[in-house]
Amino acid sequence: MHASMGNLDVAVADGYWHSTFFDTAALLMESAGAEGGPDEPPKFKRYLDRPRLALPQQVPLRLGPLDRVLAGDPAPPPAPLRAGDPAHPDTLGALLYYGYGFSRQDVGPTAGWPYHRLVPSARCFYPTELYLCLPGGGDLPAGVYHYDQLHHALVELRPGDHTEFLAAAAGAGFDGAAAVAVLTSHFWKTAFRYRHYAYRLCTQEAGMVAGNLLLVAAALGLAAHTHYQFLDEAVDRLLGLTPGEERTMAVLPLYPADAAPAAVRPAPGATAAGLCARIPPLHAPYEDVPKDLSAAARLYDLDRHSVLEDTAGFAPPRPPAAPPTPGHGLGNGHVNGNGHGNGHGPDLAVTLRERNSGGTLFRPVGTPIGAADLDRVVRHALDPSPTDLGAPLSAVHVVVQHVTGVPAGIYRVDGGELRRAGDLPEGRLDRQLAFGPPVMDMTAVNAVCYLVADRDEATRWLGNRGYRIAGMDAGAPAQRICVLAAAAGLAARPVNSYSVPQVRELLGIERDSAVPMFQIALGRRSPSPQYELPILF
Ligand SMILES: Cc1cc2nc3c(=O)[nH]c(=O)nc-3n(C[C@H](O)[C@H](O)[C@H](O)COP(=O)(O)O)c2cc1C
Repeated sequence: MHASMGNLDVAVADGYWHSTFFDTAALLMESAGAEGGPDEPPKFKRYLDRPRLALPQQVPLRLGPLDRVLAGDPAPPPAPLRAGDPAHPDTLGALLYYGYGFSRQDVGPTAGWPYHRLVPSARCFYPTELYLCLPGGGDLPAGVYHYDQLHHALVELRPGDHTEFLAAAAGAGFDGAAAVAVLTSHFWKTAFRYRHYAYRLCTQEAGMVAGNLLLVAAALGLAAHTHYQFLDEAVDRLLGLTPGEERTMAVLPLYPADAAPAAVRPAPGATAAGLCARIPPLHAPYEDVPKDLSAAARLYDLDRHSVLEDTAGFAPPRPPAAPPTPGHGLGNGHVNGNGHGNGHGPDLAVTLRERNSGGTLFRPVGTPIGAADLDRVVRHALDPSPTDLGAPLSAVHVVVQHVTGVPAGIYRVDGGELRRAGDLPEGRLDRQLAFGPPVMDMTAVNAVCYLVADRDEATRWLGNRGYRIAGMDAGAPAQRICVLAAAAGLAARPVNSYSVPQVRELLGIERDSAVPMFQIALGRRSPSPQYELPILF
């Protein structure tokens, strides 16, 4: 294993894996907060006294065909970048808005949680925060900024070009990057309600946001790498995060597409202490609430034990996955051949705005969808998403219920194709899989996708941080599934209230260390009684 000492004390992660995947109901009962109380944080982080830069209030309505983005041949962006060019404010505005912007307000009788973004979030709590480091040289001054979704603006936190500092913290070279995005998790935004359990949700969501940023960046002529490993305390200090409460989760250098390095470029070694000594602390007050962090002590404990202090402790990337076994898929004539690969399919911006988790209670209409729709969702789910760890940690399994042309059953996705793995058991799935109050009609969902990772492998390879990374690394394909579902006219509902042993049994997975990280149900929405007011800047 390659990790620092606290990160090596893997008993912390072992206990947390167990509690949050195998003993979830007990953990949630041990401590639960309430919505609407004084310790519920605002949904949007609001700095109190920092200078602000309004982004162009004219996000594009189109980003080009999703299929071309997936094929690695996006339509030419409106503001193309060459190597060394600073990113144009229009490009950054589109990236931030479509990557993780405020996109919808639900009004009406069953509005549930009213404020939605372009990425799903459990109960719309949005613990993920998005920061941007700009090298300067263009229309926007060099600096470290927070993205204020509510006003589609940048809040200046620290002037100057800190790209090289971030690169050193990530143990990589970021030369030629037009910008660096940094994702953090402000844990209490979810922990005020979910307490100890919240770290699981925070990691899942941060991974979904990273995956979405990569998709949007590609449409804008930018290529990004996701770094899961960096010297946490150095990056946290650069952003002025409240120590222990908000933590950096990912660092994403964004390059003009034709200047992006094929793989992470190595850099000289660094330590968190050495980097921290290079910059003064930053105190940037924001609107906050009174809170008792001990109510979510296990979250903060794992977070503390997942920190990396020296780049020498970073794990090397894994070799690429073996190519799929030929000859066992359902074949192009059966599930594939969706006719969308011609560059005339749905636009990415339109698709992102249409992405939906299906409402407070997800009750799909239940009529069958076509094989091409399912193919559209799964074919690109595991497309390589460049990270500092190489091959993805998760596999995709699919339970098919009502899909014309695809017999009901259990499937695994291999090389973008569905491969049959077994039959559906007798009886209703929800009676076998779910715990907690019903949040969707499982009998009417057309298919359910599971992202499955190996917990022992994550811990052996990455220490305690393996928990965080496994959740995030599953988040990127999970977001693709949600977006691709929208392109097929389907809602995609992530739901965490499932029993891990029963899902494993359903999928025919015998390994005890295999953990379903995400469950995403797909279905066509019934007409909703509420009005979903689009928010566009
Ligand atoms: C990681 C994650 C876990 C979720 N778990 C549940 C769940 O257990 N039950 C549920 O009803 N919804 C769950 N959701 C769905 C969210 O509540 C939903 O995405 C949110 O209301 C936003 O809706 P929208 O995607 O339509 O904007 C989850 C979402 C995410 C991202």
